[in-house]
Amino acid sequence: MISCVTRGAAETRSLGAAVAAVAAPGDLIVLAGDLGAGKTALVQGFAAALGVARPVTSPTFVLANRYVGRMVVNHLDAYRLNGMAEARDLGLPELLDDGVTLVEWGDVISAALPASRLEIALGFGAGPDDRSVVLTPWGPSWLERRAALGRAVQTWRAPVRAGGAPAEPEPAC
Ligand SMILES: Nc1ncnc2c1ncn2[C@@H]1O[C@H](COP(=O)(O)OP(=O)(O)O)[C@@H](O)[C@H]1O
Ligand SMILES: [Mg+2]
Repeated sequence: MISCVTRGAAETRSLGAAVAAVAAPGDLIVLAGDLGAGKTALVQGFAAALGVARPVTSPTFVLANRYVGRMVVNHLDAYRLNGMAEARDLGLPELLDDGVTLVEWGDVISAALPASRLEIALGFGAGPDDRSVVLTPWGPSWLERRAALGRAVQTWRAPVRAGGAPAEPEPAC
């Protein structure tokens, strides 16, 4: 678990860009968090960092958007899905084969998604523009990138942000 705090949407977009730097085709990123937590903001920074020029908008009404940058970025929103059957109808295996896939409200359809994933849970913080961003890698592919991921998001690591003191570097695992 890698705990971060962002202060403002621009920081969440930058954090998304930092995550993109360690992402690879075939990756699944599951985003959890209430409406307005910053899931779409994170995806915007992620896609922009991969050279996606088209503006990334919430896919609430289309279920899935496909962007092409240095790799394909699939952006899904599970909020509107009526249960697991519809989630399975999305053709997830094909999507997942084609670039990197980010699913907002992915926790809602968790069981329909592969276990190997990076979970990112966003939550509201103390101030109106503060957000907690907790990254949890699951499966060997993400676990072997855990140290790189921690370094990529170092700027926003919670101990630094909360206490103002330099964070202890985490032991590589
Ligand atoms: N630290 C922050 N991170 C992300 N968004 C923030 C932050 N502070 C304020 N905001 C605002 O919160 C809203 C987040 O919206 P959005 O990314 O669409 O959330 P979600 O997709 O989770 O519903 C935006 O209006 C954004 O400007
Ligand atoms: Mg959204």
